[in-house]
Amino acid sequence: MSKSFPEILQNSKQLFDTFFDSYTPKLFSPKTRITEACLYSLQAGGKRVRPIFVINSFFEPNKIPQKIDLSNHSVLIASLAVECIHTYSLIHDDLPAMDDDDTRRGKPTCHKQFDEATAILAGDTLNSLSFYLLSLVEPTDGHLIRDLIHILHRGAGITGMILGQMEDIEEEKNPRIANRESKLHSIHEKKTGALIESSFLLGNRLRPDWSEREAVLSRYAKEIGLLFQITDDILDVEGNLEELGKTPGKDAKVGKLTYPSLYGMEKSKSLRAESLNKAITIAKELPSLDHEFFIGLPKYIAERKN
Ligand code: IPE
Ligand code: IPE
Ligand code: MG
Ligand code: MG
Ligand code: MG
Repeated sequence: MSKSFPEILQNSKQLFDTFFDSYTPKLFSPKTRITEACLYSLQAGGKRVRPIFVINSFFEPNKIPQKIDLSNHSVLIASLAVECIHTYSLIHDDLPAMDDDDTRRGKPTCHKQFDEATAILAGDTLNSLSFYLLSLVEPTDGHLIRDLIHILHRGAGITGMILGQMEDIEEEKNPRIANRESKLHSIHEKKTGALIESSFLLGNRLRPDWSEREAVLSRYAKEIGLLFQITDDILDVEGNLEELGKTPGKDAKVGKLTYPSLYGMEKSKSLRAESLNKAITIAKELPSLDHEFFIGLPKYIAERKN
């Protein structure tokens, strides 16, 4: 019998958490100020959605294992690589020179808990560590490691997350008058969507039939990325500190270009519903993947409270 969406979500998170707990103590040893700062942010309790995307793009429907073994080592390494990049992006995003936030994942931000220099270096550490982790994947075909590195770099680097973050900050400092809709779409696609797309494509690339599914999975992932950031923008207006684990109201305070600031709340919510429906439509086209997960995911993302 096929598992329900909440069960799949829980199983994949549990698998990642088990791997994380067994793998990271050695990875972040010996204990120094910098390894402590990395672990502090990594362990602060994120949702782990990106590792969950990697895992669900790899395993057959209903085949997420409970135990870690050699057959799932590579997919878990790739999941950890993505979570490291994501956590580094949050540490840097919160710095005074960027969004200047004091709370993240319900705890003081890395630079508040340690100091700015340590937070910058912790981010740098997690960034380089991600690519090192990919080098540890079992090279089951001659192009595998190269492709994984390309996929992660495309999402995280100068054409993806970094560019989106740059445009987000430029827009905040010097808001443009024209083409604001396409600018907003482009920022969201890059700063958030690109790494989310990488997550799905990394898990997929580890499969022997990866090339048959890549195009449609990429379309799905792009929609999920957009939906994710529209929801993040809405939560910044409607959420509260306890549930969000980060300070709400920051976007309006600094004049960020967001869905609510450009369209107002009502239209933002209807655009969110549109994006949700688009993602569900694409999910139905996905071949040999767990439809229960891929169809349930858009609703989970749109209805989340943190
Ligand atoms: C927050 O990402 C940053 C965005 C891209 C919106 P998440 O909402 O996935 O944060 P965590 O990992 O659960 O803390
Ligand atoms: C985050 O966008 C994008 C990142 C690459 C971290 P936000 O700045 O809106 O994320 P939050 O709201 O601080 O988590
Ligand atoms: Mg930001
Ligand atoms: Mg921010
Ligand atoms: Mg935000």
